[in-house]
Formats: sequence, structure tokens, C-alpha cells
Amino acid sequence: MCGIIGYIGKSEAAPILLEGLRRLEYRGYDSAGLATLNGGLSIRKCKGRIANLAELIAREPICGSIGISHTRWATHGGVTDENAHPHFDQSGKLVLVHNGVIENYQTLKEALAAEGHQFKSQTDTEVLAHLIGKHYDGIGGGATRKRLVEAVRKALKEVTGTYGIAVMHEDVPGVLVGARRGSPLVLGIGKGENFLASDVSAIVGHTREAVYLRDYDIVSLDGEDFEISTLNGGASGFEISKVELTEDDVSKGSYPHYMLKEIFEQPDSLANALRGRLSLEESTAKLGGLNMTPTELRNIERIVLTGCGTACHAAMAGEYLLESLAHLPTEVEFASEFRYRNMPMNKDTVVFAISQSGETADTLAALRESQRKGHRTLGICNNVASTIARESDGGVYMHAGPEIGVAATKSFTSQVTILTLLGLLLGRIRHLSTSEGIQIMEELQAIPEKVRSILKQSDYIKTIAEKYSYAKAMMFLGRQFNYPVAMEGALKMKEISYLHAEGHPSAELKHGVIALISPEVPSVFIAPDDSVYDKNISNIEEVKARKGPVIAIGTEGDTKLAKVADDVIYIPRCPDYLSPLLTVIPLQLFAYHLAVKLGCDVDKPRNLAKSVTVE
Ligand code: G6P
Repeated sequence: MCGIIGYIGKSEAAPILLEGLRRLEYRGYDSAGLATLNGGLSIRKCKGRIANLAELIAREPICGSIGISHTRWATHGGVTDENAHPHFDQSGKLVLVHNGVIENYQTLKEALAAEGHQFKSQTDTEVLAHLIGKHYDGIGGGATRKRLVEAVRKALKEVTGTYGIAVMHEDVPGVLVGARRGSPLVLGIGKGENFLASDVSAIVGHTREAVYLRDYDIVSLDGEDFEISTLNGGASGFEISKVELTEDDVSKGSYPHYMLKEIFEQPDSLANALRGRLSLEESTAKLGGLNMTPTELRNIERIVLTGCGTACHAAMAGEYLLESLAHLPTEVEFASEFRYRNMPMNKDTVVFAISQSGETADTLAALRESQRKGHRTLGICNNVASTIARESDGGVYMHAGPEIGVAATKSFTSQVTILTLLGLLLGRIRHLSTSEGIQIMEELQAIPEKVRSILKQSDYIKTIAEKYSYAKAMMFLGRQFNYPVAMEGALKMKEISYLHAEGHPSAELKHGVIALISPEVPSVFIAPDDSVYDKNISNIEEVKARKGPVIAIGTEGDTKLAKVADDVIYIPRCPDYLSPLLTVIPLQLFAYHLAVKLGCDVDKPRNLAKSVTVE
């Protein structure tokens, strides 16, 4: 949600910043801006994508070897050139870019306006720029790095809300200042140059060392060095980490879209989620990152799974998995509800916060609320350097590699795989026999190849997607393990094709949804050969009787389904509890091909952002 990159060194800043912004564009893409310092400040900003900003800079070049830049996902103030970052302070000498929300900006703005400050935008960010500028001027004395840091510190102490910021001042030309609370910020350490960025992917081509700043850290950097302190002026216990990511990891390769690349990466990402986590000797899963002894695992009485969007759908699949494999009461709650809901939880409840990015504001808040209540709170994250990964009491990493397409794909299957491993581990501690454990492990190990075989049907799925691209709306229906997949299939369709799509348990059809069925509203039934297969067939018949077209996901070898459905996509046979890992793949491809056919921007759908770091 909003991307920041800052550069200080010897090279021209603008090309480096534009390249970094392109990598961060998935975080927000309604407007973008860039400022450089070269004697005086120069600024270019405009509505639209990074490409628009690049064109503007090509027409009106901007130079200097220090700069800050931003790609925006609007929160406060509409999408206009004026609301794009960077924002100036009152003196016009300080510029700032910001990711997050200043919650008390209205009060601060009124106080500043009463002192004569004039604002050009409707943003909360401009208020923060003015506040820092005011303190800088108020501190007085010579233009020093210390003075700028102090001004940032004073201003941030008055602020409530979240921020990742980068600041530069005309009078302190060799310095950038950054700070974070709630929104990620990374310091990239180069040779004779340093960087600030929301995400390490922006600077991966320039540095192999980074400091993942912590909440309340303030950093000042020049081309050679950096200093990190806390908001209170104390020393920060920062660590320098190796950047493992490579440029290849964050490129599309030969794929037309990141989303397609990530869908096709699933045989590997699933193998990575399993790697080293299956013990043949003990016929169970090994999840050392949970930091829990067998006795502690045995004492868990209830599990709560929380997350947002796709992660919440994975949690729903996890609910079925944990109940069936481990016989443990499991509940799912949207993180945005969990954080404000006063859910009664007995003391042996363990909470899992599930998040690809590890930075989703609601999921982080749910994690903190759960910890505040004294519960063991574990993370299932992809981003190992993320706040959720750091703040949780333990957890399991997905090891899925970067997911850049805004619509989550491989992270869903990795999350479900990890929840299956958890079900196996907890089930083996409770009631599953050795042979049952081995059987689950063998079935799990076979999944990556089964996914590969479904991916081979991409062209066939494309023809089906194109056939139904006339649809006005679409229903996604599934039962039991595949009800969450129906929700996820509908979400994918909504996110990238803007088609009205709804996910429901198949049997709920009769209780309202069926009123929407018509020849213009196709239904996608997830109907593998499982314990509810016959029930799904009856539900398909009900739709067909009302002239609704039906696309079904079925099991290879099933001859009955093709007689009732208009089109069928087959998946290999697998146990009921593993079917979400297979049935979701055709739905990802279906949404992808349909969105491409409709000419939609698959990787950057309108109004969305990959990582929602505001509430
Ligand atoms: C955003 C994205 C979704 C994603 C959700 C949770 O809304 O657009 O695709 O599922 O955030 O993200 P997380 O990083 O917490 O898994």
C-alpha cells in the first residue's frame, strides 16, 4: 500500500528511483511522484501509473544524485496531481513521501493553519511535511543532519497513526531521513550509495545488504554511512541482513504477467512448503518454527485462524483441515473483525495470523490483540523479514518466493499446504495412527506433480474462459473442503476481471442465490469425486433446470459430470482434504484467462493494492 524509494549516492537518482518504483508499483498505482535535490529541489508528480511519471520526466528531465519517490494508493484525498507525493512543507525546502495514515491529521492541520500554514492538497501526508518543516525551522541553528533528525522526531511524537516516510531538506543536501511505524521501510546498504525502500524488491539490483527497520526507528543516511536511533532518541538494536532475493526472482521472465508466472510456479512453491517438513521416521510433520514442545502442542484446545482476503480463504480451508485431521475445534475470523471483536478464548487457544506479505495492517493488529490477551500467536507468512514474522511467537514460513501479481495465487496453496502439515502434526499427537500419518504424507508429496498436470490444461481452460466472457455475473459453488475454494474462485474473478462474482456453499443455492441464476449468469461448480459429490450433482441439476450454464471442476475418470455440466475441467484424484490444493488451480487460470480476454490489467487491478498496510 504505497511504495517509497529514496536514493543517496553518486549516480543520477531519477532513473534508479523510476526503476525502483516500477518494482513497487504493485503496492499502489493511482499516482506517482519523484523529487531530486541538486542545489535546489525539483519535483515531478502526476496521476496514473509510473509510465506516466516516466513520460513526464522524459519531457521535463530532473537531475541530482539524491532523491525520494512514491507510488500512491489513495487513502486521504482523491487521485489528483496535487495529492500525489512528494509533498512540500510551508517553506518549500522540505519534501516528504509517506506510506500509512496520519489519523490525527485534521487536528494537526487546523493547528498549523491557525499558525498561517497553507496546504495545497487534501492529504494527511502534506500535514506531516508541514509539521516536520515547522519543527526544523523552530529548532534553529545551522543546517545539520542532527537538526533534521530532531525535527522528524519531534513531529512524529505528535502523530497518531502509521507511517513509513522518507524526507529530504534543501538546506541539508547530503542527507535523507526515514522513519517507520506500522508501514515497512528497509535501508539498503550499497557501496558509496544508500537506499530507503518500502520493500527490498525495489533495490535488489543495487545492494546485497539491508536493515529492516523496526517500528519507531529513525534513520539518517548519506552516501557512505547511516545512523539509526529510536523515536525516543535511544539506540536501535538493528541488524544487517543479507538480501537473498535476486533480480530474476522479481522479474516476469517469459510470462506476459506476474500472475501467470506465479500460477505456474506452484509445483515448486508447494514443494518448497513441504521441503524438510515431513519426517518418515515419525510419520508426521516437523514444524520447528512453531517453537512448541509436544506437550504444549498436545495442550492446545482450540485454534483461531485469522487473515484478510485470500489468506482468510486459506484459513477457511484450514478450519476444515484441522477439524478433520486433528479433531481440534477451529474457528476463522477476518483479521479486521478479530481486532475489534471481543472473542471469548480459553487460555489454551492458539491463534495463527496468516499473511503472505506479513504487513497487512488488520492482520498485524489481530496478532497484537491476541498477544495482548496472552495467547500464543503464530504466523504463517511468506515475507520472512515482515513485521508479522518478527512479532509472532513463532510460525511457519511459506518459502513461496516473491508474489508480485496483486491477486494472490501461489500464497493460497502454500498457506493451505502449511495448514495441512499442521493438521497432520496435531492429528498425529492426538489420534492419527502411524499408517494414517504415512498415507497423508504420501498424498501430500504427490500434490506438486498433480498441480503440474492441471497446469498443462491452461490452453483448454482459456477456451472455456473465452466462451463465458459474455457473462454478466458468475456464481462459484462448492461444499465442505471446497466451499473456501468457491470463495477464492469468486474473489479471483472479482479482483482481476471486475465481473460480479459470488462464492457460496452449493447447498445455499436454494436459499436465495438461485434467484440470480439465468443464461447470462454461469455457475462454476467445484464437484470432485468426494463425499458430497452426489449432493453437488443435485445442485447442478437445479441450476440447469433454470437454464443456468454450468462449468464444473471434476475428478479425472468421472463420466457422469460431463452429462450434467456444459463444460468440465478435470483434476487428478486425491483425498477430499487435499482437493482445495488442486481445485483452486483451474479457477486461478479461469479468472486469469477471462480477465485477459476482457482486456483487464491482470497484475494491477483497479482500486487494489498488494499489501494493505492501512486499516
Ligand atoms: C490485499 C490483496 C489480497 C490479499 C490480502 C491479504 O487485499 O489484494 O490479494 O489476499 O491483501 O494480504 P496478505 O499479504 O496479508 O496475505
